Amino acid sequence: MDLSTSEQAAITSGGDFWHTSPVESAGIPAVTVTDGPHGVRMQATGGDLLAGVPATCFPPAVASASTWDPELLRRMGEALGDECRAQDVAVLLGPGVNLKRTPLGGRNFEYFSEDPILTGVLATEWVRGLQSRGVGASLKHFAVNSQETERMRISADVDDRTLREMYLRAFQRVVTRAQPWTVMCAYNRINGVYASEHHWLLTEVLRGEWGFEGLVVSDWGAVVDRVRAVAAGLDLTMPGPDADGDAALVAAVESGDLDPDLLRQSAERVREMVLKAGRRPAGGYDAEAHHALAREIAGRAIVLLKNDGGLLPLGSSSTLAVIGEFARSPRYQGGGSSQITPTRLDDALTEITAAAGGEVRFAAGYTVQGDADEGLLAEAVAVAKAADVAIVFVGSVHETEGADRTSIDLPDTQVTLIERVAAANPRTVVVLSNGAVLATRPWDGKVPALVEGWLLGQAGGSAIADVLFGRVNPSGRLAETIPVKLADHPSYLDFPGEHGHVRYGEGLHVGYRGFDARGQEVAYPFGFGLSYTTFGYGAARATATATGVEVRVPVTNTGVRDGREVVQVYVSLPGSRVRRAPRELKAFASVPVAAGDTADVVLTVDRDDLAYWDIRLGRWIVEGGEYLIEVGASSRDVRASVTVHVAGDPDRMPLTTESSVGEWFADPRGAEVLGAAFAEAAGDGPMSAMTANPEMLMMLASLPLARLAAFPGSPLSAGDLEKLVAAANY
Ligand code: BGC
Repeated sequence: MDLSTSEQAAITSGGDFWHTSPVESAGIPAVTVTDGPHGVRMQATGGDLLAGVPATCFPPAVASASTWDPELLRRMGEALGDECRAQDVAVLLGPGVNLKRTPLGGRNFEYFSEDPILTGVLATEWVRGLQSRGVGASLKHFAVNSQETERMRISADVDDRTLREMYLRAFQRVVTRAQPWTVMCAYNRINGVYASEHHWLLTEVLRGEWGFEGLVVSDWGAVVDRVRAVAAGLDLTMPGPDADGDAALVAAVESGDLDPDLLRQSAERVREMVLKAGRRPAGGYDAEAHHALAREIAGRAIVLLKNDGGLLPLGSSSTLAVIGEFARSPRYQGGGSSQITPTRLDDALTEITAAAGGEVRFAAGYTVQGDADEGLLAEAVAVAKAADVAIVFVGSVHETEGADRTSIDLPDTQVTLIERVAAANPRTVVVLSNGAVLATRPWDGKVPALVEGWLLGQAGGSAIADVLFGRVNPSGRLAETIPVKLADHPSYLDFPGEHGHVRYGEGLHVGYRGFDARGQEVAYPFGFGLSYTTFGYGAARATATATGVEVRVPVTNTGVRDGREVVQVYVSLPGSRVRRAPRELKAFASVPVAAGDTADVVLTVDRDDLAYWDIRLGRWIVEGGEYLIEVGASSRDVRASVTVHVAGDPDRMPLTTESSVGEWFADPRGAEVLGAAFAEAAGDGPMSAMTANPEMLMMLASLPLARLAAFPGSPLSAGDLEKLVAAANY
């Protein structure tokens, strides 16, 4: 049944905070949408918008990404889909695939990585898992929403190539490979235009180029002007109701200011989404099984950064000092819209006590508020001294949506605690809890073992015990570089911007790309993580295929424990015609290898992922040439390399009157045509002599053809130009 214009307007804004608007006369019910992304945050009855009914709090993206395992992300998506069905949720508001441009990003804990391929691969599987349960995803925040400072107004000013290759790439991958039901537009502006009004982004790129079939929903409160938003391609404004906006849409259609087809299409997309959601079966879920899955993912997310002398894993008979308030009061998720009320919460102190064979003594060491307390410090030192091993839990205090961090340093009292405990007991292990990287360099030289425990969700406490005692052999890898200090970071000079603009001055050189391009020392590189075993790599082989490059490498577990290696493929093109980072991640695999065994690992680099965005042609181009394939255990630990020839895409630039003489001669057909014109004009004037002289020709090389023709005595006349262009581009 056709909807009237006012019904179309009404259905394109929400019914309330978490529901779409129903149209009863047309049999369209309201459906529920809710956050996301690492749990189902159904608002509990009562006024508090952020208080949710209990649901499994899975590890936030900062942790799940550190598994580097798409299969785990798929299983997490499936479990979330089951919980959505149990709560009658139609769309879960995630995943967040914005790039971690700066370690200060307030929502870095909700995002996957500083690398677009790692982000895109993992998010694709998460969406597939969720949607396999008949529940929709909302890929967010589209686009270039990599900071919280001024998030509702800031303009992210970014050049086209960087935009395509870095900030849109993960979105493109997820849209083209998993067709999320919805895409959520960001709050911010991109090169001056609000994401909610960005026709190029929402219509030309998202639908036109990528073939997006779902609906575009606004971030909550992102719409400035309903009419401009619908005209740009935004379908559903949230939250609602928005009677004024509905009326403005009706008036714009009636006055002819808004194409009625655009509003009709948006309303139709909302109706389709609601009807699709109506087809999902109801369901329940097993909270214990989901807790176990949350524990498995958390265990796989933990990154072992340092383990001198094999201090870890712990033997079961040692006496242990567990130090730090976070061992007892875990930091397991960040603040804001993604905050979940967990079904239960494991803490590390209880889990370590249960796993340890010997005595465990606890000292808080600091208060969560972070005030210096000499009494707590002294107690911690005494407890550490009396134990075989001291385990110190420290971490960041505030990480929340809506505010960027101002520092990557641990609170001073926590650093003092680490230093004093390490002085009292040389067998000290530090466990970090943090949603984005922390600087480790001031103190990590003083401790033999360091465990990056991120924000691990509700089962983080047991997962940490699993790793400390070796029930899980760590295989997490850094999805973001840990710099020596904040000022080293490529984004440092261009963050957070001023007067409403933030310039993405480092361009393509985000994260490890920037550190590598400047040969800069880092504390722990992108892709890094240790294991309780060791791996050896054999020779790599690479074969070009029609769809990309297939890379094969044998990986041997050379230790005595079963383990998992995350094999990483980095690609570069020496001598490329465009500036590129020294190496870029293009494929990876998390591979279980039993002690003493060898796995023949096969990795596929998709041809699309070799492409760069050519700003002259306005399209992706795979440049032909000898690609260097580096296979390794991190971005700075290359174990095998090989080159492979890849045939390029046709990429001839049409010659124009604005093409330079040099560009004309670099093109075989252009050289022929222009050479003949010069030869014909030989002897005709003062400049003709120049065109006959090779050195002079070099000087002329940068002159656009039209400018050359305008010179007095030029061998070309204005009248020749169009004929030359036609002949060169036939
Ligand atoms: C956040 C979104 C979230 C929405 C609904 C916004 O503030 O940016 O990520 O999905 O609120 O809670």
